[in-house]
Amino acid sequence: MRKLFLFAFVSLIVLAGCSAPKPVKTIENLKAGIKGETTASAKYAAFAEKARAEGLDTVAKLFDAASKAESIHAANHTKVLEGLGEKMEDFKPEFEVKMTAENLQAAIDGETYESTTMYPQFLVDAKTENVEKATKSFTWALDTEKKHQEFYKAALAAVQSNTENTLPFVYEVCPVCGNTYDQAKVEEKCAFCNTSREKFFVI
Ligand SMILES: [Fe+2]
Ligand SMILES: [Fe+2]
Repeated sequence: MRKLFLFAFVSLIVLAGCSAPKPVKTIENLKAGIKGETTASAKYAAFAEKARAEGLDTVAKLFDAASKAESIHAANHTKVLEGLGEKMEDFKPEFEVKMTAENLQAAIDGETYESTTMYPQFLVDAKTENVEKATKSFTWALDTEKKHQEFYKAALAAVQSNTENTLPFVYEVCPVCGNTYDQAKVEEKCAFCNTSREKFFVI
């Protein structure tokens, strides 16, 4: 009789384990996010090199700062994915490098897609599937991409009017969430995650 009870008890636990739903959508979204952020990081590093070759040093700095921020987003998403017991597949970032004005437009388009379409949907899925860590990581990325979009728009306008020397020359990037600041407007604590400024990367 005791054995029967034990068997029933173990079966219940196994069944409960099996029925705990995996956050399938969020896992898929984390992988898409890692791919997007890793590609953006590599792409912006290449865009920075191109801007420097064109003598657009302030624009190069912006691409450097954004590249750093995207690598932080990729690392954050990866940590969440691995915490869910999943692994990212290998992939090769693919992108095209054109003239800096076109690269800036491509960057604006990418940031707009991420901040108005991709991350808002990822957030809906993460909240539905109740994956708090993914919600946090997606929120940090979304809020940063909105700022990048504004920086890139200002940079494109400056390049088109030959006033790129008026753009910020030094940026600071929060190592925890990727938040990106013009150094002239930096805050003592990150507005997104509260990390102290002394920990920021200076780019
Ligand atoms: Fe970005
Ligand atoms: Fe932060």
